[in-house]
Amino acid sequence: MQCYVINGGRRLSGSINVQGSKNSALPILASTLLVKGQSVLHNVPVLSDTECTLKILRELGCVVKREGDTVIVNSENATGTEISEDLMREMRSSVVFLGAILGRHAKATITTPGGCEIGLRPIDLHLYAVRRLGVRVDEAHGKLCCTATKGLKGCKITFSFPSVGATENAILCSVTARGSTTVVNAAREPEITDLCEFLNSCGAKIRGAGESIITVEGVEQLHGGEHTVICDRIVASTLLSAGAVTGGSVELVNTNPFFLNSVLPVFEEMGCNVRVRCNNIFLKAPRRLNRVDKIITQPYPGFPTDSQAFFTTMAAVADGTSVIVENIFECRFKHVAELVRMGAKIRAEGKVAVVEGVERLYGTQVQGQDLRGGAALVIAGLCAEGITRVTDAGYIDRGYTDLCGDLCALNADARKEMQK
Ligand code: EPZ
Repeated sequence: MQCYVINGGRRLSGSINVQGSKNSALPILASTLLVKGQSVLHNVPVLSDTECTLKILRELGCVVKREGDTVIVNSENATGTEISEDLMREMRSSVVFLGAILGRHAKATITTPGGCEIGLRPIDLHLYAVRRLGVRVDEAHGKLCCTATKGLKGCKITFSFPSVGATENAILCSVTARGSTTVVNAAREPEITDLCEFLNSCGAKIRGAGESIITVEGVEQLHGGEHTVICDRIVASTLLSAGAVTGGSVELVNTNPFFLNSVLPVFEEMGCNVRVRCNNIFLKAPRRLNRVDKIITQPYPGFPTDSQAFFTTMAAVADGTSVIVENIFECRFKHVAELVRMGAKIRAEGKVAVVEGVERLYGTQVQGQDLRGGAALVIAGLCAEGITRVTDAGYIDRGYTDLCGDLCALNADARKEMQK
C-alpha cells in the first residue's frame, strides 16, 4: 500500500480543474446495462471504484473501452445476471447494479455488499424498492437471489429516508417496467439528476429528478446515448478546504458552484472570501480561519456528509470552538483520533464532535481509514508543522484521480511513496 508524505506550511495558490464525479459516474456506468446498444460517457474519472465498475460490466457481458476520461460501453450482448462476490466486496456501491440487472433481465444475483469504514450501510431500502416493483428476493448466506417472475410493474415507492443508492436502484429498476412508478421522498443529490439526464437521453421518461417526487413512465427499451458526467462537488470542496486551511488562494475551474450552495457559505463563515464566476469558484483564505458555529450534515441540498471530514480539519486549526454534527453515517469520525495525534483538540461522542481550534498541528504518521477521512488527514498535513505521513492511501485513491498531483499543482509539497 502507498502513503502520502506531506511537508506542511506552504500556502496553496493557483487554478485547477475538478475531475468528473465518482458518485455520478458509478450509477451511470451501471445504467448502461439497460441500454441495448452503445453508450459513450465523457468525464469519467479514473479511480479504483470506476475501474471496478468497468470490471463488473465486462463480467456481465458488456464490451467496455476506456479512452482517457471517455468510456464506451456496448451492452448489446450482455446476458450476465450475477456479480461475483470478490467484485461485490471490492466496492460498496456495486449494489447499484441490482436495479440495472433487474431492469434488463428481471433477475439478478448479488451478494450483500456489506458495511464499510463509515457504517453498517444496510440495503433494506434498496430491497424494499425492488420488492414493490414485483421482485422476489431470496436471501441466503449473504447471497441475494432476485427474480421478477411476472416482470417488473410500476408502482408507488415511498422511502422512509431519501437514500441516494436506493433512489438510484428504484429508478434503474423502473425505467423499463410496465406502467409508471412514483418515487416519494427520493434523494435530491445532483448525481441523481445526472443519472436521469443520461437515461432520458437514451429514451427513458423520467420527470422530477432533483425533487423529492420522481415519476418514471416505463418504456420498452433504451437506445444508445452520449453524456458528459458532472464535476465532482466533493473533490471541489476538498481542494477549496486545502486552500482555506493553508491561508491560500485557489481557483477551481469547470465546477458547478450551484452544487456547493450549502458548502460555500461555511467557507465564508470561517473567514474566507469566496467569489463565483460562471463555472469557476475563487477562494481567498484569511491567515487563520474563524471557528464555525455548527455544521449539521443533511441529505442534499443540506450540508453534505462527504465534506464533513475536511471541515473538521479546518475547524481543528480555526480560532475558537466549532460543533460538527454527523447525521448521515454512524461511524464517520474516524479521522478525529488521527487529528488528535497531530495535536488537535477534538471530542467526538456519537453524532457530535466538539472541535477546540489550536494554533497549529504537528506532522506525524496517521492512518487513513476511509475515503474522505483519509483526504482530510492529507489536508491536515498541508497546514501541520513538519512532515505528515498518511498511510493506507488506497482509500483515498477510490475517490481522487490524483489528489497528490492536484495539491502539488497548487504549490503543496506532497508525494506518494510505498508504505514501509
Ligand atoms: C451515497 O452513498 C454516496 N456514494 C456516498 O458517498 C454519500 O456519502 C451518500 O450517498 C450520502 O450522500 C455513492 O454515491 C457511490 P445513502 P449511499 O443510501 O447511496 C442509510 C463517498 O465518500 N441507509 O444515501 O450508500 C445508510 O446506512 C461516499 O463518496 C439505510 O439505512 O448513501 C446511511 O446511514 C461515501 N438503508 C444513510 O441511509 C438503505 O437501504 C445514507 O445512505 C440505504 C441507506
